[in-house]
Amino acid sequence: MVVFKKIEDLKQYISGQKGKGRNIGFVPTMGALHAGHISLVQKAKNEDMLTVCSIFVNPTQFNDKSDLAKYPISVDADMELLLKAGCDMLFLPSVEEIYPGGEDNIKVYDFGYLDTILEGAKRPGHFKGVGQVVGRLLEIVEPTALYMGQKDYQQCMVVRKLIDIMALNGLKMEICPTTREADGLAMSSRNRRLTEPQRLVAGCIYQCLVSIESKQNSDNFELVRKECEDLLAAKGFATEYVALADARDLTLLDNYKSDTPMVALIAAKIGEIRLIDNILLEDSRNS
Ligand code: PAF
Repeated sequence: MVVFKKIEDLKQYISGQKGKGRNIGFVPTMGALHAGHISLVQKAKNEDMLTVCSIFVNPTQFNDKSDLAKYPISVDADMELLLKAGCDMLFLPSVEEIYPGGEDNIKVYDFGYLDTILEGAKRPGHFKGVGQVVGRLLEIVEPTALYMGQKDYQQCMVVRKLIDIMALNGLKMEICPTTREADGLAMSSRNRRLTEPQRLVAGCIYQCLVSIESKQNSDNFELVRKECEDLLAAKGFATEYVALADARDLTLLDNYKSDTPMVALIAAKIGEIRLIDNILLEDSRNS
């Protein structure tokens, strides 16, 4: 694995590889890697991509600066995992490298409705930061394919819109399934901050999502939402949202809707740790 800290060096290497006919698969991360990230690298490799992973803790996407200060950093362990997975290139830029003109001098993209709901509403400015860094990284890496995890469903939709805005018509975006622990907890870099008792109950977020899916025939999402909020509260979570939305554009739904692909999404906090998760609902209403 070749490690790059400078944009120009990475660009030059990638351009040489493209000259040899290689396709580039890109996995952007903020480090603290886990099996979910590694599954993205593996997916890219399975598709015969020369794989670039970036590790950059992007300051502009943290609306809560204390969250940024506590973000887990484990570059040595991350490099081991990437090496084992056969990642070809690692991009480890500094903040100055990514934002040479300072934070105020960065392109801002407008994500409209997507930035006003759920994560956008709870974390003002978060998607602006995600757009800034992903836009910048896509300009640098110019990948053939971009691999992102479904766990951050709304982020995936924002990035899809970014690709549209940037008119990167040839770029393929792959949204890969969420990797889960045995009790269903979605893998996340934040999980390592959970205490043992918090970790023991954290699987209940996934249980709630599964119950939202399995109760479609009730035709009463309000009741199912209330049951989820009660379960989360009983386990010590403060719920931020339990939502149902059209999976294509995240239009929020008050109730289950036939002939509509749906996604259920939850954000909840336990202690200081904020967790999010989602599932796409299988249509079981007529079965
Ligand atoms: O999902 C993440 O880890 C980050 O939001 C991303 C996409 C790497 C941008 O910093």
